[in-house]
Amino acid sequence: MKYKALEYRYKGEIAVAKAELSNYFENSVGVGDHPHIIDSMDELVGQIAQAEEKLTALMEAQLPEKLVSILNKYLDKLLKNKDRITAADTLVGQIHGGEQLTMDHECEELEEVRIDFCSIAARYVADFLGMTGQTLIGNRQIDIDKLWSVHSYEGDYNPLHDHGTKTAMGVSCTTWTKIPEQISKLTDPSEEGKLNYYNASGCSDGFLEFFYGRNSTRDKEILKPTYATMCKPKVGTIYFFPSWLQHTVYPFRGEGERRTVAANFNCFPVENNE
Ligand SMILES: [Fe+2]
Repeated sequence: MKYKALEYRYKGEIAVAKAELSNYFENSVGVGDHPHIIDSMDELVGQIAQAEEKLTALMEAQLPEKLVSILNKYLDKLLKNKDRITAADTLVGQIHGGEQLTMDHECEELEEVRIDFCSIAARYVADFLGMTGQTLIGNRQIDIDKLWSVHSYEGDYNPLHDHGTKTAMGVSCTTWTKIPEQISKLTDPSEEGKLNYYNASGCSDGFLEFFYGRNSTRDKEILKPTYATMCKPKVGTIYFFPSWLQHTVYPFRGEGERRTVAANFNCFPVENNE
């Protein structure tokens, strides 16, 4: 498992704001030089609260090849099933070339997938609490709420959206079991740095991007951190994220199927009978 850079960025912002704030408390010369000290301190407290609110993490893991083939086998069969249930009426995906399908997460065929997904989601919650130094009152039972597939083709896309769960605490995940060759050949921003959008390069075609703040195309040129994480889709790579985290999927050109499997997890409080 690895986590994207968000954690470090916000922890850095919090540390800087806290250091500046303690300077106000401890340094009387600083106070004397600063007639608007209350406003400044208030601003710093606001910065800390904002950074803490954004302190989130995107967990990246790799599914074993066996699970990818279980999913593909299930979906190949589902696509041929005349009784397959569309998930399009509850999803924002603008999928015209392909389909969005409801998957039966309780079926025997997907048992291994269900166990693996739920255990990673539980690990995500535990890691999040550990990273943020928080504790929950009572345990949580983490179960899949919905599992679905997106079979997208040229021109299909997902507008900016978040996910919903039955519980206030919700975890979501997304993975890919098929990726067209032209997407696989693109630069991976997590390995090779920032993408270059100039000259209509198509550098993010078919990519998934998460957003947690306001961004501009000039960010790097004005030394402003970008509040977004771009993920190149790869077969078997899976991302876990809090369900509120907004994201979008860019369209791609050319042949081939971009096959996504996604899930939402409820985190029901467990009664402690001891
Ligand atoms: Fe989504």
